[in-house]
Amino acid sequence: MEVRAIAGNLAEQQVETLVVEVAEGASRLSGPAAQVDAALGGAITAMIRDGLISGRAGEVTSIAALGRVPARRVVVHGAGKAEARTIDGFRTRAGNLARALRGLDAKSVAVGLQETDSLDAETVGRALAEGFVLGLYRFDRHHTRAEDRPRGAVDAITLVEAAPRRLPALQRGVEAGTILAEATNLTRDLANEPANLMTPTIVAERAQEVAAATGLECTIIERAEAERLGMGSYLSVANGSVQPPKFIVLRYRNGGRTRPVGLIGKGITFDTGGISIKPAAGMERMKGDMTGAASVIGAMQAIARLGPAVNVLAIAPCTENMPSGSATKPGDVVYAMDGQSIEVLNTDAEGRLVLADGLAYARRENCSTLVDVATLTGAMNVALGNVRIGTFANNDRLYADLERAAAAAGERLWRMPLDAEYFDLIKSDVADIKNTGGPSAGSITAAKFLERFAHDTPWAHLDIAAVSDSTAEKGVLVKGSTGSPVRTLVHFVLGRART
Ligand code: BES
Ligand code: MN
Ligand code: ZN
Repeated sequence: MEVRAIAGNLAEQQVETLVVEVAEGASRLSGPAAQVDAALGGAITAMIRDGLISGRAGEVTSIAALGRVPARRVVVHGAGKAEARTIDGFRTRAGNLARALRGLDAKSVAVGLQETDSLDAETVGRALAEGFVLGLYRFDRHHTRAEDRPRGAVDAITLVEAAPRRLPALQRGVEAGTILAEATNLTRDLANEPANLMTPTIVAERAQEVAAATGLECTIIERAEAERLGMGSYLSVANGSVQPPKFIVLRYRNGGRTRPVGLIGKGITFDTGGISIKPAAGMERMKGDMTGAASVIGAMQAIARLGPAVNVLAIAPCTENMPSGSATKPGDVVYAMDGQSIEVLNTDAEGRLVLADGLAYARRENCSTLVDVATLTGAMNVALGNVRIGTFANNDRLYADLERAAAAAGERLWRMPLDAEYFDLIKSDVADIKNTGGPSAGSITAAKFLERFAHDTPWAHLDIAAVSDSTAEKGVLVKGSTGSPVRTLVHFVLGRART
C-alpha cells in the first residue's frame, strides 16, 4: 500500500474512489467536498438535507458517481465536530477510514484534504500516512484458506491538496509517516508471530535482514561470547531452553564522535515463567514477550531510513524462558556483567535479568542515555491499564524529552515513581539484590531493579506490558500487537540529533 500527496482538484482524479469529508452540523460544504458535490449535481447536499448524511465522526456513506466524475464512487466520510479536528483525531480517523475503504473493496483512493490550513501540513501528512498504513495492518499469513482472510486490499491512497504551496511539506510528512508506520508494522509482525516461528535465532535473522536492507551494522553475540563477557544474568534465563540465546546489537552511525543513544528491548521469545511456571490459561500471550526487542528493531529501521545526525545503539537480549532440568532454580545466585550479584527468587521475573546485562552492555559501549522497553510486569495493567505507558526515569530532562516525543507520536506516557524506599523491597539476604519484591508495587520494584544497572547514566524504562496488545480495532490499532512505542522511540532519537 502506497500513500502519496499531490496538488490538484479532487473531482478530476482518475481513481476508483474519491473521499470527501463532511463535518457534523456543517451548514454548507466547502473545498473539495463542495467541488465534488457540484460535480454530482448536489447529491451530497441533498443527502445531508434529507438526514442521510450527518457528518458524525467515522460515518461512511458510499455514493455512485454515475459518470459525473472519472471515479466510480464517492465516499463521504464524517469528520465529526469542527472543534475536534486535532492531529491525533486525523490519525485515528484515517485508520478507521482505511479499514472502511478496504471493506468496500476500494483499490485506488483519492482523499480531498479539507480545512487543514490551520494545521502544519507536514504534521497532517505524517498523521494521515500513519493512520492509513497502521490502520490497514493485519497479521493473516497463517490462514491458508483465502476465505479465512479478510477480503479487500487498498493499493494506493492519494492525498489531494488544493493549495500547491502546502504540497512540499505535506509530501515530507507523508514520507516520514510511512516510514514510521512501516517500522511499527515490522514490530507488529515480529511480535505477532508465534514463538515456534520467532525463536531467538529467527529474531536475530530478521534483525540482520533489516540491517542489510537499511545500512545498519548488526552483531549477534552468541552464548560463548556472552559467557566471556560475564552476562551471567541474561544467560541464567536461557539455561532451561534448547533454543540458543541471541544477544542482538544494531548500530546506526551518523553522529560523528558523539556518544550513542542506547535503546534496549526485552527479547523473551516465549515466557513460560521457567521453574516458577505460569498458569496455562492465557500463557499463549507470552509469545509477545519479545515486543521490547521488536520495538527497538523497528525503531532502528525507521531511524536508518530517516537518516538523522546521531549515533544509536540498539540492544535486544533474546532468549526463551523455559523450565527444564537445566533451568535456573528459585534461590540461585547469578552475576551480571557489571559484577553485581542477583538472587533469583522467582524465575518468572526474567525480563529484568536479561535487561540487567543489556543495560550493562550499553554502558560498556559508552551510551550517553539508556532507554529500555519491556513487557515487564503484569502489575502495569493494574496501575495504568492499556492507555498510558508506565515510564520511569532517573533524569527529569530525559523524561521531558520522552514525553515530547510521545506527544509527537500520538502515544501517551505516565511518569511512575522511583523513591528510594521501594528499593528496600528488593534487598537480598544473600546477594546484592533479589529479582522480586513481593506483591506490592510490582512495576516499581522491577524498575528499581533496573535502575541499579543504569548506575549514574541517564536512564528511562518504558513498561509496555499493558499496552503491547490490542483486542480492539480502533484508529491505528488492530487486533494483536500495537507496535507501541516504536514511534515515540524514533521521535526521541530525532530530537537528540544535531540539526
Ligand atoms: N512477561 C511477564 C510480564 C507480563 C505479564 C507481560 C502479562 C504481559 C502481560 C513478566 O516476565 C512476568 O512474568 N512478570 C511477573 C513478575 C513477578 C514474577 C514478580 C508478573 O508480572 O507477574
Ligand atoms: Mn516472566
Ligand atoms: Zn516476561
